[in-house]
Amino acid sequence: MKFELFAANFLNWAATYDGPPFHALLSDWPYNLESIAKRFGKPGSIPAKDVSFNRASRGFLGHSWDTAIAYDPATWELVTRLLHPGAFCLSFSHPRTQHRLALALENAGYEIGQTIGLFQVPVTLGWTYGTGRPYGADASIAADRRAGAERPDKGHDGHAGKGTPVTPLAQDWEGYYYTQPLKPCLELVIVARGPSSPIRLDSILATGAGAMNIDGSRKGEDHAFGNLALVHSLDCTGGSCAPDCPVLSFDGPAHYFQRVDWAYEIAERLAEASPLFYVPKPGLGERNAGCGDLPLRERRCANPGGSTIQHNPHPTLKPVDLCRQLAVLLLPPARYAPRRILVPCAGVGSEMIGALLAGWDEVVGVEVSPEYAQIGQQRLDWAMRAIELGARNVGEIVDAQQGVQLRLGM
Ligand SMILES: C[S@@+](CC[C@H](N)C(=O)[O-])C[C@H]1O[C@@H](n2cnc3c(N)ncnc32)[C@H](O)[C@@H]1O
Repeated sequence: MKFELFAANFLNWAATYDGPPFHALLSDWPYNLESIAKRFGKPGSIPAKDVSFNRASRGFLGHSWDTAIAYDPATWELVTRLLHPGAFCLSFSHPRTQHRLALALENAGYEIGQTIGLFQVPVTLGWTYGTGRPYGADASIAADRRAGAERPDKGHDGHAGKGTPVTPLAQDWEGYYYTQPLKPCLELVIVARGPSSPIRLDSILATGAGAMNIDGSRKGEDHAFGNLALVHSLDCTGGSCAPDCPVLSFDGPAHYFQRVDWAYEIAERLAEASPLFYVPKPGLGERNAGCGDLPLRERRCANPGGSTIQHNPHPTLKPVDLCRQLAVLLLPPARYAPRRILVPCAGVGSEMIGALLAGWDEVVGVEVSPEYAQIGQQRLDWAMRAIELGARNVGEIVDAQQGVQLRLGM
């Protein structure tokens, strides 16, 4: 088992790659979230006056790497050259921009949700979590502001933030939001299969790429990996869920099902935590494992004033255990070793660590930022050592780190 993380622009790296083909791809591409980048971020645009626009015009939270690289079919045409024919590609995506990713894949000849003969390719996998809140513009506040009405109690005790609507129009619009009104708590993983010959089975049996490891990813005897991965809220404790936990939302339909007498099945499924996979968002231990000797840096957060100082400040970490589940799903049988997985836009290595835990023989990642690549290298070195010592999940990797810290008296 080995890994390599290249500090390079993926497009340049891919254009000159001449190694053996990969069996699958797993990536958390940039989401290219700031539509304002279109107005202010283009070459030759007049510079934005407002500081926040300046920040936004560089991409998500001001990061210049948040580009549309995955929405260009040319990127996927380049990827095709690196993969075995018909290889599966799992790509995290954002609810606001996932259609652009799916379209780029289709335009590059990948299969998404098409039925070809007897083969039906699943469209998407959903990953849902409890953290996050609606960031939409408040129509009531906007109505008061337009009328020039100041809210006297705005930000005062008992009325943190909004204050009480002043004008009748604002009163009527209380509780309405008009931009990004829905709380973000679902990300789709686009499932696509690369172009291949019509006789798919020949290619699968010859190369090992193009079939999913459903049995390997089962939880228990009966539960195959579903197309929904559910994540507890960070505030859940062992026995009870926080109010914003999606597991509670799942319990809602269970009440509905009770009336049609499916209660037993739903309760049983929840109790066994299958076929849903509960994966928490990464905590501080997972974020910083292996990074203790790197400098502390600012980690920008979406909520104002929410920035923190971390050894690993990457703003868009994916949970390693979720990545591990996805990587297990992609893993071909051992007879095709060395089984090789490609992780473009690797960030600080969460998908790569997940792939190592899943048992991939060779994990290759490419990350454009030298700073993130350095952090990723530290996390991967740490994880690799822990896996060689027997760690089977991210909790055991983090525990290994804490054990060392205790021994060194850190
Ligand atoms: C959404 S983040 C991935 C973070 C990852 N999920 C993790 O937990 O470590 C996307 C990453 O893609 C990188 N990136 C953006 N454009 C790239 C390019 N052209 N080549 C390689 N990496 C790129 C960014 O620097 C960023 O770290």
